[in-house]
Amino acid sequence: MRALVLNGPNLGRLGTREPGVYGSATHADLVALCERTARELGIEVEVRQTDHEGEMLGWLHEAVDQRLPVVLNAAAWTHYSVAVRDAAAQLTEPLIELHLSNVHKREEFRHHSYLSDIATGVIVGLGVRGYALALRWLAEPDA
Ligand code: DQA
Repeated sequence: MRALVLNGPNLGRLGTREPGVYGSATHADLVALCERTARELGIEVEVRQTDHEGEMLGWLHEAVDQRLPVVLNAAAWTHYSVAVRDAAAQLTEPLIELHLSNVHKREEFRHHSYLSDIATGVIVGLGVRGYALALRWLAEPDA
């Protein structure tokens, strides 16, 4: 089984970006955690990050065409991008929406997501460890 972990804008700045909100792990740490977890689970994972919406749309189209499950942290796009939602809505395999922070305890504008109602499941507020949990679920959805 192969899965894509797709991270949106500003997530490449993890580690230095508002550490009180997002923690001290860097994006490289996040990649290492995902790769280590995938190895343990015997699955393949590819982690990507972009600040460009068109690039994210292309990756989602790739996941649609290759029938890949996706762990998606769309970051700020979550709250306003109908284009990201429309691309994600075409997925045929599980979609896990993920946020490092608990968006529900933050500003009101973060409470609405364009993804939650089309996602298979949502993980919020568990920091980078949420990614490991998402991959574990994808590897064993019926466990
Ligand atoms: C985020 C939460 C979003 O509201 C924010 O715009 C982000 C990161 C998170 O992982 O907690 O960039 O998706």
